[in-house]
Amino acid sequence: MDNFNNEQKHLKLGNIYRDSGRNDLALKEFESIIKIDPQNEAAWLELGKTYKMMNRCPDAIEKFIQAVRINPNNKEALMELGGTSRISNNCERAMKEFKEVIGRTLNNEYAHIELSKIYQKIGSFDLALEELRKAYAINQYNSEIFVGFGQVYKAKGQNEEAIGKFKEALKIDPDNKNAHVELGKIYQGQKNYEAAIKEFKSAIRIDPSDKQLHLNLVQLYTKQNEYDSSNKEAQVLLQLIPNDQFSQDAMLNEIEIFQGKTILRSKVKRLWVTLTTRCNIRCRTCGLWSSPWEIPRKTVDEVIELFPYLERVVWLGGEVFLYKFFEELFQKANVFPHLQQQIITNGVILTEEWIKKIVEAGAELTISVDGVTKDVYEYIRTGASFEKLIKNIKLAQDLIQKYHSETKMRLNAVIMKSNYHQLEEFLDFANEFGFEQVSLMALHFDEDPEENIFYSKKDFRSLEYITNTVPKIRQKAKAYDIDLDILLPTEDLKFDRFENNNYPAQPQQETLHCKMPWKYMFICDKGTVYLTGSCLKSIGNIYNNSLDEIWNGPEAQIYRESLLKNQFQDLCRPECMTRWEI
Ligand SMILES: C[S@@+](CC[C@H](N)C(=O)[O-])C[C@H]1O[C@@H](n2cnc3c(N)ncnc32)[C@H](O)[C@@H]1O
Ligand code: SF4
Repeated sequence: MDNFNNEQKHLKLGNIYRDSGRNDLALKEFESIIKIDPQNEAAWLELGKTYKMMNRCPDAIEKFIQAVRINPNNKEALMELGGTSRISNNCERAMKEFKEVIGRTLNNEYAHIELSKIYQKIGSFDLALEELRKAYAINQYNSEIFVGFGQVYKAKGQNEEAIGKFKEALKIDPDNKNAHVELGKIYQGQKNYEAAIKEFKSAIRIDPSDKQLHLNLVQLYTKQNEYDSSNKEAQVLLQLIPNDQFSQDAMLNEIEIFQGKTILRSKVKRLWVTLTTRCNIRCRTCGLWSSPWEIPRKTVDEVIELFPYLERVVWLGGEVFLYKFFEELFQKANVFPHLQQQIITNGVILTEEWIKKIVEAGAELTISVDGVTKDVYEYIRTGASFEKLIKNIKLAQDLIQKYHSETKMRLNAVIMKSNYHQLEEFLDFANEFGFEQVSLMALHFDEDPEENIFYSKKDFRSLEYITNTVPKIRQKAKAYDIDLDILLPTEDLKFDRFENNNYPAQPQQETLHCKMPWKYMFICDKGTVYLTGSCLKSIGNIYNNSLDEIWNGPEAQIYRESLLKNQFQDLCRPECMTRWEI
């Protein structure tokens, strides 16, 4: 009895901690339960949900599996396992588990439904339908099964069949929210906005707190030119949001995107700031160190003014540690719990004192590692020491573990002639030294034209090698659980579609392919401002205007207007567009 009470106490406390965003303490509470009773399925489930909130999907999946193994009929655990596996593209593990559950238990309709969703996610529509038929044989009155059928038909492009199934689901259960939402989405796709509004309203009656549904209505009313209704819906939505500056502005930003606004009341959300071009080393690819510049104090003050609204600030240079106001900026930003700081550095300039400050603040640390061997690294990064790099990376890795810090390490590699053959090794290196993310970018600019295999000295043999290697490194990233971002213009990434300014003619009108002009701003050297590093045109300069003025200046508006019309010519960098679903 005592144990039972203790477990309930830990469970309650864990949930309170998680609701208040203190996930580390929540984890401890749920783990205490498992120490008392390793068969407590609720504790495994809550552990999984906490890891999921922390974006640690592989850990979450393992915990959900434990819950499902203890009780294969735990519907919530089955659904969490399926949902988390799908959003994190980790389908194989869940698929195996669902098959085992089906083998072990009789009449487990939810295991069949979840397995069907996994099949649908990986494009095996026939197998998905087969699982749904098995679920239907167990229970003909479960409306979720009809929703499942509808979703598969919708994914196959058979909208009329899908509509039929969603309507059948609603006959069984008129309060099936998913069926209303799916119908709303189909009608919206068919530009039948009135019908879509009706469905989303029904879904909201069932779940008034679903913010996405309110946003859909905001958008649909705008499309119908019913601006008053759209604004009213926006007000309802803002009342669902915590009443603090950051949360309100974040939601206003989403609303303005959905209303297609090009002049924004909401502030920039993600700001990249070049603080100085001064540097302690002389990379052969870099054009910054040779013309010294630093950001003026007036812009530092404007950046500080934006802290209450920002979700991320990225500090870069040159080397930020050589800028006199950097420590002040770092400490002032650190006061805002919602503001994630990221520092991009060559890594060799880092001192033990700074590594400690970064790790204690949980700031993200991006280190440029353009070669995984001493010869290649030191050839590209002139003046840097490979040994010093490794020493600092190891120190950061150790301190992150010691302090259980939320600091994530990202490895940046700019790909060029001297290092493209190390593509696979970058992933091994990242894995060995605890990097959670890897970004592979193409060399731009012509500081060293000989190195530029993508543009000035286009080298088809190297490009072919890269194209063949990309699938291998994707596999490695998956095996190492590394978040891999590839910004390389190769065949594999559909670059041919955009070559020679051959931009896609008229992609789907209904889709906004990139929200960045509503969220990002990038202050470059000499004060030139872009929306992002992948945008081709500048939107202003800090010496001519304030950051607020630039944010809503004519050039920024042109970007937003053009993207709303799906016009990208001369505005967007092709390799950035390759990431959009067109
Ligand atoms: C200019 S550096 C400044 C931050 C820091 N000094 C560093 O090296 O990471 C920012 C990023 O730009 C990359 N970079 C340097 N030269 C480049 C080039 N020619 N083309 C593309 N990226 C480049 C660097 O490797 C680094 O990841
Ligand atoms: S370390 Fe960064 S800023 Fe310094 S020269 Fe290299 S790329 Fe440029």
